[in-house]
Amino acid sequence: MLENLSPQPADKILALVSAFRADPRTDKVDLGVGVYRDASGNTPVMRAVKEAERRILADQSTKAYTGLAGDPAFADAMIGLVLGETVARDRIAAVATPGGTGAIRQALELIKLANPEARVWISNPTWPNHPSIIRYLGMQMGEYRYFDAETRGVDFAGLKADLSAVPSGDVVLLHGCCHNPTGANLTPEQLAEVIAILTNNGVTPLVDIAYQGFGDGLDADAAATRAVAAACPEVLIAASCSKNFGIYRERTGILMAIAADAATQPLTQDTLAFLNRQNYSFPPDHGARVVTTILTDPALRADWETELEETRNGMLALRAQLADELRRLSNSDRFDFLAHHRGMFSRLGTSPEKVAALRDHHGIYMVGDSRMNIAGLNAETVPILAKAIIDSGV
Ligand code: LMR
Repeated sequence: MLENLSPQPADKILALVSAFRADPRTDKVDLGVGVYRDASGNTPVMRAVKEAERRILADQSTKAYTGLAGDPAFADAMIGLVLGETVARDRIAAVATPGGTGAIRQALELIKLANPEARVWISNPTWPNHPSIIRYLGMQMGEYRYFDAETRGVDFAGLKADLSAVPSGDVVLLHGCCHNPTGANLTPEQLAEVIAILTNNGVTPLVDIAYQGFGDGLDADAAATRAVAAACPEVLIAASCSKNFGIYRERTGILMAIAADAATQPLTQDTLAFLNRQNYSFPPDHGARVVTTILTDPALRADWETELEETRNGMLALRAQLADELRRLSNSDRFDFLAHHRGMFSRLGTSPEKVAALRDHHGIYMVGDSRMNIAGLNAETVPILAKAIIDSGV
């Protein structure tokens, strides 16, 4: 049987991790996978996470199963973090999932159960695992324009034209903040126009929010998701705790499904629990418990928010430094977009050949579409990158 398998396409982000590891050069720079690194190149365990884990280790008296949907306290804490008071709690169904990817997968399966004909529209470009999972599930997919290669901002005219043509009953996948891979985001005014298109046309938004707290702050980064949730009758939200709590390997995420009314919530909740049971039964608990411990303890939460702010401001400083350095070296403002982008990523906007040249000649690794992980830089590597960009004729 197994000899009948055919090779699957490699994930281009994860393939880069192996290529970087295998490179013997000591001055190589990894701007590939989206993992935060501090100035010394470590991905630290956050202080509040360490303390929450210490408390759990000391106090936990059982490892018996939680509920199929995960611990209800985790759902309450995460609904508060992402949505605040935007939507009545009795309209929200929620399940804990293995990471944000698990939430995306469960969201797509929920859509498939509710409307097998629904087409899922993704931004061009988007995180490569979005189309990969949609295709794997055999669902219909469409793309809407998103990135303006010239300005490295959002191609809003193209986006609006494409979204206006999405028919009722379909689903549009939006990034809640810190668009991956471009770093270019909608303004609140543009978002309001998008929301009007979706609500007028009866299109359901699926919001992927994986970087809350990495852009403009915890509440500012949730503002788009909250605006969508406030305006649209039904909304799916996949949230990840991997980045903002730095608990990547714990696989902690949540899917929230906002039903049109409280009467539809129980059926939605039961279906989400069913989907968990079919796919992996009970969701992982440890990371979720850490998150709940932090979010429900005022002192721990304050410490977490402080450290997250330090992380965010560190990335903004690297953006500013890189834009300054490139302004100086190129004697132009054509790289200023790097300071305006938000989140971990920026798309440099250059060809795969130049990306390959940066890797081969300078040991700088970025995704083939020229996505750079800004958090992979530090004050010493910024000038090296800037010089390599100019030397490569980007
Ligand atoms: C990324 O885009 O690099 C991250 O979301 C990590 C991943 O799983 O691809």
